[in-house]
Amino acid sequence: MSQSIAVIKGDGIGPEIMDATLRVLDALDCGLQYDFVDAGLGALEEHGTLIPGSSLETIEKHGLALKGPLTTPIGKGFSSINVQLRRHFDLYANVRPAISFPGTRSRYDNIDMITVRENTEGAYLSDGQVMEDDGNTGLSQIKVTRHGSERIVRYAFELARRNGRKKVTALHKANIIKTASGLFLDVAREVARDYPEIEFREMIIDNACMQLVMDPHQFDVVVTTNLFGDITSDLCAGLVGGLGLAPGANIGDKAAIFEAVHGSAPDIAGKQMANPCALLLGAAQLLDHLGMNTKGTAIREGIRDVLENRRDMVTADMGGEGTTSSFAEALVESARARI
Ligand SMILES: NC(=O)c1ccc[n+]([C@@H]2O[C@H](COP(=O)([O-])OP(=O)(O)OC[C@H]3O[C@@H](n4cnc5c(N)ncnc54)[C@H](O)[C@@H]3O)[C@@H](O)[C@H]2O)c1
Repeated sequence: MSQSIAVIKGDGIGPEIMDATLRVLDALDCGLQYDFVDAGLGALEEHGTLIPGSSLETIEKHGLALKGPLTTPIGKGFSSINVQLRRHFDLYANVRPAISFPGTRSRYDNIDMITVRENTEGAYLSDGQVMEDDGNTGLSQIKVTRHGSERIVRYAFELARRNGRKKVTALHKANIIKTASGLFLDVAREVARDYPEIEFREMIIDNACMQLVMDPHQFDVVVTTNLFGDITSDLCAGLVGGLGLAPGANIGDKAAIFEAVHGSAPDIAGKQMANPCALLLGAAQLLDHLGMNTKGTAIREGIRDVLENRRDMVTADMGGEGTTSSFAEALVESARARI
């Protein structure tokens, strides 16, 4: 069966890591057809906008996109394309796995957890941000809804159930932010009752940050509101060695976009120095999403194998001597042997 996906190559190192990623997907015979769409600096030059309407239509048509990092030009008038995509497609679930890999500079081994962050409301509203006329007081609003809380918590439990995970922890600050965070916690408790086979825990966000640093193995799936999720998912990336290995999926009911969490790294663009792991792990999430879990796992296990046993093929940021394409070459060999 063939499935079409929209592909945004991205800016800076985007085209190099996307080429490496598509090479691996092709070698695994995933049956994917790529519909390349414009976005980012190239689109700005050609169409005068960072994300043309035709690109949004293509993503909408396929409902799936693999996205390289995009440069947001500095200066007024440019809002982040990632934020635009989230709003346009109502991509309410930001799913960020944090997995330990060998050969990384990290504090712990054997971390395998997923942060599920609510992506559309909470403290990240465009409305309700006010600076008073004297410039001395800034006001922001936090908005949490029953609908938004229920769909994100349910998403986290369904993800846990599908993947045989044992525990979901809701992170909150209901003791102080009694309305918004209190509602999120109430809804999390209600939804948890529908999943008796999965352990439900709740933890105040500040304690959770300390627990994550001191004893991360107690966490499995974590679910939380927008701001807390933004911070804790980067904290978790730090626990496994940084953003070079951090993928992310932005998922809604009508579309899902898979990406690397890092940016376009203009300082190393075009030099074959970029580590393609994060985008490859995003592609593995896409395969899981399509039900091709064996192939998604082959990519993850293959990355583990290459990082451990093929140091000559690994990029310099991981301590190796290889290039973006030598990493892909080694991964093709390793991942193919696993399916
Ligand atoms: N998801 C996205 O599209 C996204 C995310 C963050 C930043 N950005 C954009 O990226 C541009 C650059 O941002 P930045 O410099 O703050 O962050 P960055 O993540 O691009 O780079 C930070 C540092 O990490 C290194 N790095 C990043 N990815 C790497 C990889 N795969 N392999 C090896 N080294 C890597 C870079 O060389 C740089 O030294 C900005 O225009 C920003 O808006 C895009």
